[in-house]
Amino acid sequence: MAMRWTNTLKDREVTDEATFLNRRQLMAGAAGLGLVGVATGASAEELKPNSFEDISNYCNFYEFGTAKEDPPKYAGALTTSPWSVKIDGMVDSPGDYALEDILSKMTIEERIYRFRCVEAWSMVVPWNGFELADLLALAGVQSSAKYVVFETLVRPEEMPGVKYPVLDWPYVEGLRLDEAMHPLTMMATGIYGKDLPNQNGAPLRLVVPWKYGFKSIKSIVRITLTDKEPATSWNKANASEYGFYSNVNPEVNHPRWSQATERQLGGGLFAGRVPTLKFNGYEEDVASLYTGMDLKTHF
Ligand code: MTE
Repeated sequence: MAMRWTNTLKDREVTDEATFLNRRQLMAGAAGLGLVGVATGASAEELKPNSFEDISNYCNFYEFGTAKEDPPKYAGALTTSPWSVKIDGMVDSPGDYALEDILSKMTIEERIYRFRCVEAWSMVVPWNGFELADLLALAGVQSSAKYVVFETLVRPEEMPGVKYPVLDWPYVEGLRLDEAMHPLTMMATGIYGKDLPNQNGAPLRLVVPWKYGFKSIKSIVRITLTDKEPATSWNKANASEYGFYSNVNPEVNHPRWSQATERQLGGGLFAGRVPTLKFNGYEEDVASLYTGMDLKTHF
């Protein structure tokens, strides 16, 4: 697959080679899928993946509770198989797509991405997954479509958090079609070559690395193509604090805190507060999507 974005980070620079090869063999063997290692983003000096433990123990997944430790505690109860995704709206082939059918048609890659939460913390995550564009191609996007809407499962018997009206369930997110089709935009199925932990959005979640983490909606059961900008969960909850675009931008502060810096999670040499990068370090790849737009208005 042709890479159409900056790739300055080589996977061998961030992970011991033996571990990496072993992981590829495991993945390829277990799933019978093609696996291509891809690492993108800013320079290797800065990017070092957080540990599996960091990534899976500090989570936002309000369907399981609002504390960071709630999802790791409660998401184990989530039944992730069987799983299907309804794809509807402005597509040629609407329907319920079984996850295993989707996966049998996708190429699973590893992508090491920065992940920046709107709460001003960040991680680096080695995701496994495929490009959203490839999934949309399966369903056949019609020329009238301008936006993609995503919905998370709501299953009160397995999700203790949905009893509380913290958000208007189901959790809904959306992208403009060109953002959704961008090669950086992926559907993740795993981290570190293992199935996605439930608390991180198993079995299938969105990852949009240049946007605040809340755009990266978890445990997706529905994808709808539409011609109208959708109402999204956090925007509905507080429109003055959470915009539709939510591109990472150190120049546009959250009304209650600065977005100029971020706290990198995980210990070690690089722990601490660092400057936040415009578009989370993916400016070269995505800035052209927003040419002529005032990013202060369209925050
Ligand atoms: N998706 C759903 N369905 N529910 C959520 O509460 N939280 C979002 C996003 N996706 C959330 C969600 C937020 S605020 C962030 S920062 C990321 O998931 C956190 O992803 P992680 O827990 O895998 O780091």
